[in-house]
Amino acid sequence: MEFRVLAIGDVTSEEGTAHLRRHLPGFKKMKGVDFTVINGENISGTGLTPQQADDLFAAGADVITLGNHTFGKVQVSNFLEENPYILRPANFTGRAPGRGWAVYDCGRVQVGVLNLIGRCGLDFNAENPFTADRILKNAGKPTFVLVDFHAQATSEKLAMRYYLDGRVSALWGTHTHVPTADAGVCEKGTGYITDLGMTGPARSVLGIRPEQSVEFFLGGLPGRYQTAEGPCRLQGALFTLDSGTGLCVGVERIEVS
Ligand code: FE2
Repeated sequence: MEFRVLAIGDVTSEEGTAHLRRHLPGFKKMKGVDFTVINGENISGTGLTPQQADDLFAAGADVITLGNHTFGKVQVSNFLEENPYILRPANFTGRAPGRGWAVYDCGRVQVGVLNLIGRCGLDFNAENPFTADRILKNAGKPTFVLVDFHAQATSEKLAMRYYLDGRVSALWGTHTHVPTADAGVCEKGTGYITDLGMTGPARSVLGIRPEQSVEFFLGGLPGRYQTAEGPCRLQGALFTLDSGTGLCVGVERIEVS
């Protein structure tokens, strides 16, 4: 039996959520999507509030994943403890609220989702993501395992691709907000893409107002992120999984304007 997982790249503003609300229901129906994972750590620019998380669920997320900006809005901490459908990186230290791994019962299949954060170029006090696979060793046997690897370096994401190939159903990268052209099924059956891209205003620098970004690179004063405005686009990838093998049989990159 085929099972279709839609992974959507970092939502960079509330306009991005509104874009999903408009387009996701029809898109899911058209493509026969069974399960949707959305990275939501940038809805406030840095972080997201419980209300913004609820809005993202209402827009069509089954599970929300996060990353380096998980606690950008600290009021989300209790929400992470209470709601099992929102994950922060599993390789945060044990003192961090919330969880980074969960298994969801979808009736015919069980879907495990693992959120990890990289360490290259992300100055963050995280444990080595390459040791987090011990979570999978003690995870029982869900039908599918999905991994959102929130990381800066393409090298770190590609290394993870080879490390987890054949052991997880799908692995995708988030955080860099620019989609990569390497979507495909790996040698041992894992579906993979180095970065999904982002969901938010098309005229932007990773979701930020271009003028602010240019000013920063010219040497101007840094300031609070100013979210870009204008027409949005959704970027992500659609993984077709096989419940017999637990592996991937096809990956399609997604873009919806
Ligand atoms: Fe990030």
